[in-house]
Amino acid sequence: GPAGLGVEINVDYVSVCVVDLAGTDRVRVTEPLDNRTAGAAEVLERAARVAARVLGSAAARDLHPAGVRLALPGLVSAGTVHQAPNLGWNRVEADRLFAAALGGLWPGRPGAPELPVASDNEANVAALAELWFGGLGEVRSFLHLTGEIGVGGAIVVNGQLLRGAHGFAGEIGHLAVDGNGPLCRCGSHGCLEQYAGQSALLRAAGLEDGAGATAGAAGVEELARRADAGEARAVAAVEEAGRRLGLALSGAVNLLDPEAVVLGGIYPRLMPRLGPAVDGELARRVVSGLWTPAAGRLRPASASADAARGAAAVVIREVLADPLAY
Ligand code: BGC
Ligand code: NA
Ligand code: ZN
Repeated sequence: GPAGLGVEINVDYVSVCVVDLAGTDRVRVTEPLDNRTAGAAEVLERAARVAARVLGSAAARDLHPAGVRLALPGLVSAGTVHQAPNLGWNRVEADRLFAAALGGLWPGRPGAPELPVASDNEANVAALAELWFGGLGEVRSFLHLTGEIGVGGAIVVNGQLLRGAHGFAGEIGHLAVDGNGPLCRCGSHGCLEQYAGQSALLRAAGLEDGAGATAGAAGVEELARRADAGEARAVAAVEEAGRRLGLALSGAVNLLDPEAVVLGGIYPRLMPRLGPAVDGELARRVVSGLWTPAAGRLRPASASADAARGAAAVVIREVLADPLAY
């Protein structure tokens, strides 16, 4: 049946999935890849190779993707990555490069049109996955943060993603939490992700941020284990990240008055120490006085609602909205 292909290309991994009409994740392949050390064209080709393998797999045989959505860790507009700070990309024509690479690897189904490719920011589609498939219940207005190498953000108001004038809204990772803080990959100083991103957290805890998702994921797991065990340096690193997240979020909550704040990516695993630090800062700084830890407005993202699934689901939504075009 009709399906969507989601391809998340992040700084230290690529994750590809095929989602069916019901939004169910039917085939998934995640590969650790250090995408910092290769150029954009090579990284997009690597991702196309993973996608071609997924498309050609037995598990995907009865699924017919209507299109591809790329989920990328940067500012995306009209098929071009304007900037992806932690990949070192500027003005990369991701749609075109990926489509060309995939075209050379995947012949497609006989008679079927070439798969259309489009791109979005990975944190945006992760938030959509949470909205559509997560555990938010009645909540329709929320802020969604994704802890990756950088820190991603999305603003959802009344069930709609807020995109801004150029599609670049939600970049909370580059909200300054210290005007004189460390230099960020974006060129500014004291950005939130320099305190609360994966690399910053592991560094602060004295753990190596090795290359590749395996190293990153293992590092985060080790950090969580140490924090849970009460090890001082790990606890301090997680709590400091939490306070900076809370500081940035209190500004966002005062501006936007969301019903909830969702923390995804590496954050759910760190929640026991991270959550109270974030909540504490919010309770202190949200001017309405309506932010209390007891209200349960700070929530971990659902494990099954990630960027690749959200990206694939966007394709499905387009098929459902216009079935005759498919
Ligand atoms: C980028 C965002 C991205 C986030 C998480 C930030 O550095 O600017 O676009 O969503 O990292 O990967
Ligand atoms: Na975003
Ligand atoms: Zn920055």
